[in-house]
Parts: sequence; structure tokens; C-alpha cells
Amino acid sequence: MSADTPVLNSASSDTPVQNSVSSDTPVLNSVSADTPLLDALTARGRAFLGSRHAIMAGAMSWVSERHLVSAISNAGGFGVIACGAMTPTLLEAEIAATQALTDRPFGVNLITMHPMLMDLIGVCRAAGVSHVVLAGGIPPGQAVAAITGFAKLIAFAPNYALARKLLRSGTDALVIEGSEAGGHIGPVSLAVLAQEILPALPDAVIFAAGGIGRGAAVAALVEMGASGVQLGTRFAASAQSIAHPNFKKAFVRAAARDAVASVQFDPRLPVIPVRALKNAGTEAFMEKQREVSLRLAAGEVALADAQLEIEHYWAGALRRAVIDGDVDNGSLMAGQSVGMVTAEEPVQAVIDGLVGEAEAALARRGS
Ligand SMILES: Cc1cc2nc3c(=O)[nH]c(=O)nc-3n(C[C@H](O)[C@H](O)[C@H](O)COP(=O)(O)O)c2cc1C
Repeated sequence: MSADTPVLNSASSDTPVQNSVSSDTPVLNSVSADTPLLDALTARGRAFLGSRHAIMAGAMSWVSERHLVSAISNAGGFGVIACGAMTPTLLEAEIAATQALTDRPFGVNLITMHPMLMDLIGVCRAAGVSHVVLAGGIPPGQAVAAITGFAKLIAFAPNYALARKLLRSGTDALVIEGSEAGGHIGPVSLAVLAQEILPALPDAVIFAAGGIGRGAAVAALVEMGASGVQLGTRFAASAQSIAHPNFKKAFVRAAARDAVASVQFDPRLPVIPVRALKNAGTEAFMEKQREVSLRLAAGEVALADAQLEIEHYWAGALRRAVIDGDVDNGSLMAGQSVGMVTAEEPVQAVIDGLVGEAEAALARRGS
């Protein structure tokens, strides 16, 4: 896992969830208009999630906490708590707080390399969590068996072969996330993943993610066979997101081209690609890689130590941007969809806009 991973490496003893939104955050009820064409194409996804719309909000470390998650589920979407580096006790509290804010279904995203993964799964089971998303690598068999005993399991499929393998080994639904997405990314775009995977697995429940900003894209993807979609960036900048105002302002200002994938300078010093808005921190990271690479070449540092220096570079960086508002040096993880964030909108408006646009697109072509 790279050091810019917002989860384990950034672990601090304090709670990763800030209650900067007051407890009187309005509970929004879905007021979405009729969307019969979209509903027909997303019937399987909606039944799977148990939500009005098959729109998942991808878990975002530091961002996807009780307020945002409950607001999304209350607005007819499907919120997902980002467990990240939380301890089992913190996760238990976060789930309970979310349940207090919504009676609609929501999920919990767990990172497979969390050292207490099985304990976190136990917390989800005890709390009656209905959907668990496993991220950060191929789900271990023990975790799959434990989760499918009480909840629906969703996992990320980076290619067709793994998609088939995951489904065969008990995963109930897949997310195919293209490289347009914010955060840790794979190498292939959603446009290509969708073509490769959706027609080949017509009976699977698959959610498409990465770079989705408008309902026209939602319409196209469900027409191609996706059961629904997952968005992150648009929700990170929404009114109910607890992200610092500086973080949201940076999203509103940014264009798609500003959300760039981190670049590896030296093959001996691996960097897992992360898509984030470019800032002073991303510039300094390149310089850091160059400097460590030179020291490595000069024999001034051992390979393992050099790799650790690179890995630890971004430790705590997402928190610095999201919570502290340090948009110069923190990690502003964002998808290319950031260009379609034009204001800090309420979650309900984001969801209603997406489904309204999707329905209109489908109606225009008589789907
Ligand atoms: C700020 C930020 C943090 C993220 N953190 C996580 C995470 O902790 N776990 C995860 O599985 N995905 C994470 N993601 C990915 C999102 O869940 C989602 O799949 C992605 O944002 C979709 O692409 P989009 O941003 O273009 O909509 C993160 C994305 C962003 C923008």
C-alpha cells in the first residue's frame, strides 16, 4: 500500500471522523421525480442495494462518515461508510451514529489489509450491516466467507478474469472503477472496463465508477448493462460533506485536467497511482522521488529505506486536506469528474440532478 493511502498509514490515534456538521443536519427525504426508464434499467441494482436509486456513493476516507452517508441514503442513494484505519470501537460507534440518522440501507467499506479486518467484520455483523464493500486488493477467502454469512458482499474488479473469479468465490456484486476515479486507481479507463466486463457478465450485479459527473453517463452505463453507478468526487464536495471549506472550494475551481495521477520516477521506488488535484504537495512529491533516487544511486541509502521514505511521504496527507483544509500540501484526492463540480450542492440536488438527466437522456433515444 502506498504512503498516500489515506487509511492505515495515516492512522492517528484520534478519531478519523469529525463532527463538524451539527447533529441537526436535516434529514432529507427523497423527492426524486418519476424515472421509469432509468428504474427499469436499474431494477437489479436497486433491489440489490434496497435504495430508491442505484446510485452508490463510493466510500472516501475521512469524508464518508455518518452525516454524508445518512444524507445520501435519505436522499434515495446508497451511502457507504469509509472505515479506513478506524479501530473496531470507532467503527462500531460510526455505524450506530449512522443508523440513528437514517433507516435506509447503507454499506461499510473495509480495507482488506487492515490488521483487524476480521474484528471489523465482526462489528458489522453485530450491528446488522446489510452491505460490506471490500477494497484494497483481492478479498481474502476467510473474509469473504465471514461477510457472506450475514451481509451482501461487494468487491472491486480490475479486469474480466478477476471479475469472474470474485463472483465464483462468493462476491455478490462488483464495482468496476476506471482510472478516471479519485483516490487509488488502476490503469484502465471505465470506458474500456465497461466494454470488456459488462457484456461478458450479463447476469452479474455490477456498479460502474470513475469519472461519472452527469446523468447522461449514468444512462449510457446502465444501457451497457451496469446495474447502477458509484460516484465519489461529486459527493465529496456536497453540502453535507464534512470536508473543510478549502477542500470543497478547490473542487469547485478545478477542471478535469487538474485531477492527475501520481507519477513514479524510479522503478525501484514503487508508487501506487493516486488521482488527486495537483498542488504544491504533488510537485514536492516528484522532487522527493528524484532526490531519494539520486541518494539510492549514490549508495547513500539502502533500497528498503528508500522505498519506505517514498511510501511514507503522503502519510496523513488526505486528512490534512479534508479535515485541516491544507489544500497546498495535503492530498486532494479527486476524480476527473471534478470538472463537473460547479457548486457545493446538497446531496439531494446531486442525486435528483443525476437521475433527472439520466431519465431525460433515455427518453430522448426512446429507450
Ligand atoms: C477523497 C477521496 C477518497 C477516497 N477514499 C477511498 C477509500 O477510502 N476507499 C475506497 O474504496 N475508495 C476511495 N475513493 C474512491 C471512491 O470511493 C470512488 O470509487 C471514486 O471517487 C469514484 O470516482 P469519481 O470520484 O470520479 O466519482 C476515494 C475517492 C476520493 C475522491
